[in-house]
Amino acid sequence: MPITTMPTIPALANALPRVEDEIRQLATSSRLPIVNSFAGRLTAAGGKRLRSVVLLAGSLALAGEVPDRAVTAAACVELLHAGSLVHDDLMDGAVERRGVRTVNAEWGPGPAVLVGDFMLARASQAALASISPFAAEQLAAAVTDLVEGQVLEVLDLYDVHRSPDGALRSIALKTGALFRVGCVLAAHCASAPEEVTTRLSEYGAHFGLLFQILDDLLDLTSSAERLGKPVGNDIRQGVYTFPLLRSLTEGQRELLAERGRDLGETELAGLLAGLRAGGLVPETVAYCRNLADQTAQALPEVPGSEALDVLRRLPVAYLDWAVSQIA
Ligand code: FPP
Ligand code: MG
Repeated sequence: MPITTMPTIPALANALPRVEDEIRQLATSSRLPIVNSFAGRLTAAGGKRLRSVVLLAGSLALAGEVPDRAVTAAACVELLHAGSLVHDDLMDGAVERRGVRTVNAEWGPGPAVLVGDFMLARASQAALASISPFAAEQLAAAVTDLVEGQVLEVLDLYDVHRSPDGALRSIALKTGALFRVGCVLAAHCASAPEEVTTRLSEYGAHFGLLFQILDDLLDLTSSAERLGKPVGNDIRQGVYTFPLLRSLTEGQRELLAERGRDLGETELAGLLAGLRAGGLVPETVAYCRNLADQTAQALPEVPGSEALDVLRRLPVAYLDWAVSQIA
């Protein structure tokens, strides 16, 4: 994983366990042990913590240290992300996430709504109490973006005429917004001026797009062992993603138009093999290389900052790691 290179900067290496502590405290702060057990279990199961690394490195680059408020902000962003995944798993009917059974599979759909809600509410409370009203407002705005991005996805399910731009609009909201708000909070916690905040937030928005496009590519091209779930789930669920839409042949589009909702496993395997034999991987990787460059170029200038170098290298490092996950 590229992010294992991050803790080579001592200030980041020291901050990440503090983020974990704050996530655990927030996720297990209900009066009801059963809520703590579900929210705590998902957050303890890890994840890449990419949003935290970006936020902490951003604050470190701009402030010369990792302010306590940035540690709290990272925990809030991760808790909000995890809460959105609880809802996402419910919508997907997913049974496993990060190697643990999902809340909907284990406890049921209604409780999964409630556990997700609890996590979102706690993230907002912590931001208001321990960072600032501005931080709480920004996080709440990100929640509305996530919801709208997800709604756009739902509206386009099984639509073979969904445009690649339509898919981009959805992922800019459902994923880009949270990376972006992490960067806004990084700048806020470092008391950075407005133009610096704007540039760092552009970096976050681009990084979020890059992350989601690669996530979508791996859904089509990785292996069940590496993904921790079957490949092709997006197509099974009718989510026709940006990399898919850009590389479908007319024949493949017709197959989805005719059989999309009833696509059998053999047909899906044939479609995935056809996509692999066509331009899917090289075209998506080329698009992502360009996007990774744009992401790095959005960064504000901070002379001599090691943390800024980390942020500059991270998009390509993440892209290279994703390419290594293609089966
Ligand atoms: C995972 O992506 C899901 C998201 C990035 C956003 C989910 C957002 C919602 C469910 C809206 C409600 C959110 C809140 C905050 C109330 P994916 O489904 O592409 O990835 P996966 O393969 O990991 O499921
Ligand atoms: Mg999903």
